[in-house]
Amino acid sequence: MSASSVSFAEADQILLPPRDGLPWLRGADLEAQTLEPGGLVVRDGTISAVVEDLDAELLIDARGCALVPGFVDCHTHLPFAGWRAGEYAQKLAGVPYEQIARGGGGIAASARSAAESSDEQILEHAGELAAEMLRSGTTTFECKSGYGLSRAGELRALELARQLGARVTQSTASTALLAHAVPSGYSADQWMDEVAEMLPAVLELGSVSALDIFVESIAFSNAHLERMGELATGHGLALRAHVEQFASHHSVPVAVAAGARSVDHLSMLAREDLGPLAQSDCAAVLLPAAEFLGAEHRAPGRALIDAGALVVLATDANPGTAPVVSMPLVIGLGARLYEMSARETLGACTLNAAWTLGLHERCGSIEVGKRGDLLLLDGPVDRIAYRLARNPVAIALVGGQPVYVRDSRAAARITRR
Ligand code: NIG
Ligand code: FE
Repeated sequence: MSASSVSFAEADQILLPPRDGLPWLRGADLEAQTLEPGGLVVRDGTISAVVEDLDAELLIDARGCALVPGFVDCHTHLPFAGWRAGEYAQKLAGVPYEQIARGGGGIAASARSAAESSDEQILEHAGELAAEMLRSGTTTFECKSGYGLSRAGELRALELARQLGARVTQSTASTALLAHAVPSGYSADQWMDEVAEMLPAVLELGSVSALDIFVESIAFSNAHLERMGELATGHGLALRAHVEQFASHHSVPVAVAAGARSVDHLSMLAREDLGPLAQSDCAAVLLPAAEFLGAEHRAPGRALIDAGALVVLATDANPGTAPVVSMPLVIGLGARLYEMSARETLGACTLNAAWTLGLHERCGSIEVGKRGDLLLLDGPVDRIAYRLARNPVAIALVGGQPVYVRDSRAAARITRR
């Protein structure tokens, strides 16, 4: 169903930022997003006016609905091979993640699965997940490597991420998670030397925009985080970091000093590290599905928002800690776990998530000039969290094209002129 112009008419709510041109939404700006009734037109892929145009080629009746920006999932581990349901059964029986990892499970298990799978198998699996993500409203997502655990394996994963980006309906960003677990046969220091050596080949792919590292007792240290920061700066890449997930290592000040774009997880964030993070321009990416499924500690989401931090919500979609791809579910979990309002959850997984990926000038909010990545929800926005785990997406547009129409009732809202 392609069209050069699409207009939504008579929506009950349109989520707009408090002002145009904001790179992110922090503190009171989250709550200042407006939800007034109205219409919208997308022309040649771009939002051209926040008012309906009854002459548009496709007219979408939005009565009773909310119109929001497409969700940006800025932390996923796609593409990966297979699942690890057995580990979840172990966790339910009380075995901690660290113990599973030390016993050869965890990241190493997914690395073995990736090595045993063909490129096509991995792409097909990831493509199915991307389609599932689109149905629940994700119009942009991040890919990470990290299950290669060798130079060739990591380059292969990044190449597969590039190919996935070319196949899927959504836009994607690619992060090289080159320090995820220490590969066997290396010390962590030796592996960081290998990371430095492989960076020219990583850059040559042309698709990677960030480096990432997992700081934990079973993975890498703050010193390695500092080194990854130097490598990122030296190569013009953003720095992201998995920190304070299972234990507190005071990695946040190290990441902020290294110029990190984001610190992700933060379930064990030390109280004294919260203020400096909130005052920095480093995003605090919260991953409530990983916290819930892993019975992890809870990141101080409410306190971070109140202190003015750049708070983001994402799935962390991966076969270990968060086999979850649904942003509506993440919104519901985030609302409850971090005491976030509907506007706060939405700002966190749209504009703030787009900023984390460096894509805020193109997507993440409903503003004239931005890409027409839009969701028509079948009810008011406060129902997303309230009707936990229900998918509210009736119609999704990517680049101004309706790429997902849920059912005949949703289709009946669309008139071609
Ligand atoms: O974000 N914590 C490190 N990395 C992933 C989990 C990876 C895995 O278990 O496969 C995460 O939770
Ligand atoms: Fe992760």
